[in-house]
Amino acid sequence: MFFSEQLISEIIEKNDIVDVISGYMSLKKNGTNYKCLCPFHSEKSPSFSVSSTKQIFNCFGCGVGGNVISFVQKMERLEFVEALKFLADRAHIEVSDTNNEQQLKKLSLYNTLYKINQETARFFYSNLNKSKEPMDYLKGRGLNEQTIKSFGLGYSLNAWSSLQNHLRQKGFSQDMMQKAGLIAKSEKSSGYYDKFRNRIMFPIIDLKGNVIAFGGRVMDDSKPKYLNSPETPIFHKGENIYGLNFVKKQQNIENIIIVEGYMDVIALHQYGITNAVASLGTAFTENQAKLLKRFSNEIIIAYDADVAGQSATLKGLAILEKEGCTVKVLTVPSGKDPDEFVRKEGMEAFKSRIKNSVSLIEYKIEDVKKGLDIENIQDRIKFTKEFSMILKDIESSVEVDAYIKKYSNIMRVNETALYSELNRLKEKHKNGNNKHNIVNSKKEEQKPKNAELIAEIYLLNICMYDLNKAKNIFNIINPESFRNRLNKEIAYIIAEKLKEEKSLNAGEVISKLDDAEKQTKAAKILSYELPEKELDGLIQSSIDIMNKSKEERKIEELTSSMNELFQTGEKDKANEIFNEIKKLQRIRK
Ligand code: CTP
Ligand code: MN
Repeated sequence: MFFSEQLISEIIEKNDIVDVISGYMSLKKNGTNYKCLCPFHSEKSPSFSVSSTKQIFNCFGCGVGGNVISFVQKMERLEFVEALKFLADRAHIEVSDTNNEQQLKKLSLYNTLYKINQETARFFYSNLNKSKEPMDYLKGRGLNEQTIKSFGLGYSLNAWSSLQNHLRQKGFSQDMMQKAGLIAKSEKSSGYYDKFRNRIMFPIIDLKGNVIAFGGRVMDDSKPKYLNSPETPIFHKGENIYGLNFVKKQQNIENIIIVEGYMDVIALHQYGITNAVASLGTAFTENQAKLLKRFSNEIIIAYDADVAGQSATLKGLAILEKEGCTVKVLTVPSGKDPDEFVRKEGMEAFKSRIKNSVSLIEYKIEDVKKGLDIENIQDRIKFTKEFSMILKDIESSVEVDAYIKKYSNIMRVNETALYSELNRLKEKHKNGNNKHNIVNSKKEEQKPKNAELIAEIYLLNICMYDLNKAKNIFNIINPESFRNRLNKEIAYIIAEKLKEEKSLNAGEVISKLDDAEKQTKAAKILSYELPEKELDGLIQSSIDIMNKSKEERKIEELTSSMNELFQTGEKDKANEIFNEIKKLQRIRK
C-alpha cells in the first residue's frame, strides 16, 4: 500500500482527533483542551490531554504524545501504514491504488502463501488422529486437547509426498508449495518431496492471524530435534515472536515473559500464564525487541538454565534495554526449562518465580557469585572487584546502598571494603574519561541554552495559532537559525507548509517527521502553553533571545580560539581575534 503525502494529509484532516479518541474514552472539556485518564498507563487523576485546535494528544504522566495516527497506532497496536489504513477506512477514504501493479503482484503472492500455509496447518491438524503416536506424544508432554487445538498443533505424516498430494488437490501449484518452503527438489530424481515428515508441527502465526511458517519436532531423540521453515517471502527469521498473537488479544498486560521454545510457551499458556512468548532459539534481535515493546515495556526473560540460555539472556537483556524496556530475569532451577518447571511445580510456583525475577544488575551479580566459594579468600576478593565493576554505573545511591548491604552479608565482605573498592573504580573511571570531557565540553557550548530553547518553542507554537504570524516569523528568521535539532526540523516543515498557503495544524506537522520517537517529542514541543502575553511582543522577544544567543556563541567560540592562539605563541593572530570580539561586544551594547 502506498500513501502519498497528500493522502496522509487528507486522512489526518478527515479524522478529527477528539472524535477518534472519544470513540475509546470519555473526554471532558478543559479550557480549549479535553482531558481524560491516560489509556496507556494507570493513573487516578487525568493527565491525558487532547487538543482540538492542534489535533494532538499528550500525556503529562507517562510522556506519550502524537497525532491522530500515533494515537491509533498505540491504541490498536498497529504499524504506521496499518494505522493509516484503519483511519482511511474510518473516514471512508478510498486508498487502493490499483495502478501499482508490482505491489499488487506481491500482495497476491503473499495471499497465496498465507492460504497454502493455512491449508497445510489444517492438514497437519487432521493428521493427528491418523495414528496413535502423535497424540500419545503430545499427551505424554502434558498437553490437553484444548491447548493442542488453540495452538493449532499437528502432525506431518511419515511419507514423502502426502502434503504435496493434498495441496495439489486443493489447487495449489508446485511452485507455490516450494515458495512456501513446504517441499524441496529432490537431488536424485526430478521430483519434489515433503520437507516435514513424521514430526509434531507447530504453526507460527503472525499478528494478523496468518500462518507464516512451521516448526516441526521429532518424537524421539533423532536429529535435528526441530526443523523450521526456511526464509520465505512471508517469513523472515528474527522478525517474529512465537505466541505474540495470543498476547495481542489481551488488554492491559503487566509484562511479557519471553522463553526459548515452542513447548515452553504452550505449557505456560496451558497453566494460565498467557503472557509468554518465544524468540525461537535464534539469537534475539533488535526487530524482535521493537515488536515486543509495542505490547509492554516490561519484559521478563525466562530462558533455559543452561550455558547457552544464560549467554542468550545477557545478549537479550542488552538489546531490550537499548530499546528502552525494563528487563528482568526469571531463573528456573539448573537443567530445567520453563516447560518442565511449570509441569512439575505448577502455576503458583512459576508465578512466584515471576515475582522474584531480578533486575539486570542483580542477575549479573548472581552470575559472578555463582562460581565462587565464600570460604575462599581469593574468591571473596574476586567477588568484590567484579561486584564493584557492576555497581559503578548505577546512578542512584539508594540502589547502590541496597546492593552493598545485601551482598556484604551474603558474601561476608565488609561494607566499607565494598564502598572503598567502588569509589576507587569510580575515581579511576572519571580520570580516564577526562580526555573525553575536554573534547565534549566544546560540543556542550554548541548546545542551545535554556532561554534559547524556550524562545524557539514559543515561536513554533505561535505558528500553530496564527498563519499570518507564522509568515511574519519566517520572514525574519529562517529555519536554519533554530539550534535544537528537532526544533529545526519542525521549523523546516512549517516553512515548507507556509508555501502552500494553508493553515497549519500540529497533527499534520508531526506526521511529516520520520520516526515515532521524534513525533512524540514534537507533540510535546507543540503543546507548550504560551505565556499570557501579547503575541507580537512575544515574537519579538523570542527572536531577540535567539539572536543574542547566537552572538554569545560566536563570542565564546572566538574567545576559545583566541586563547589557543595565545598559548601557541601566535600573538598577532590572537590580537586580530581580540579586536573582532571587541567589535561584536560593542554592537551588542
Ligand atoms: N530450536 C531449533 N532447532 C533446533 C533446536 C532448537 O529451531 N535444532 C529452537 C526451537 O524453536 C526450540 C528452541 O530453539 O523450541 C529451544 O530449543 P530447546 O531448548 O532445545 O528445545 P525445547 O523448546 O525445550 O523443546 P523440547 O522441550 O521439546 O525438547
Ligand atoms: Mn524443553
